[in-house]
Amino acid sequence: MTTPADQPTTYEKIGGDAAVGKLCDRFYERMDSTPQFAELRAMHPEDLQGSRDKLYMFLSGWFGGPDLFVEKFGHPRLRARHMPFAIGTKERDQWVACMVLAMDDVGIEEGLRTRLLENFFNTADFMRNQHG
Ligand code: HEM
Repeated sequence: MTTPADQPTTYEKIGGDAAVGKLCDRFYERMDSTPQFAELRAMHPEDLQGSRDKLYMFLSGWFGGPDLFVEKFGHPRLRARHMPFAIGTKERDQWVACMVLAMDDVGIEEGLRTRLLENFFNTADFMRNQHG
């Protein structure tokens, strides 16, 4: 996500490092505890800490903050990295719904939340590699 040079970044608006970390904590806590996300949960390792840390490092850079994921793992190649997982509309919608709950938990301001939801949806949709 790009931000014009004279505007605060999404990273700054959301509340910096602590807020990105909290968003990722809540995302995986919700995934782990919500029956509606059972299929999504089952695709992930039993211990969610590594998944949480990777999403945190990725979102830090994606929001315009420190590019932690790229520094550690190189180019995200997100679509390629998701190829081992069968992702259709059901998985996409569970991922996005889980992120909506996490954003609500963190209390992101309405305008920013709407814009992020659009970006998350588009990225999740791009990750689909199965019909249906
Ligand atoms: C469309 C629905 C999605 C599904 C079902 C899904 C599922 C997964 C799974 C199962 C993993 C592996 C976790 C692990 O290795 O611990 C993963 C990794 C990851 N996902 Fe997703 N994901 C989705 C969408 C997204 C979106 C929209 C983003 C970013 C905005 C994202 C960012 C990441 C990142 C950064 C990783 C770590 C990649 C790596 O280094 O291997 N995912 N995802």
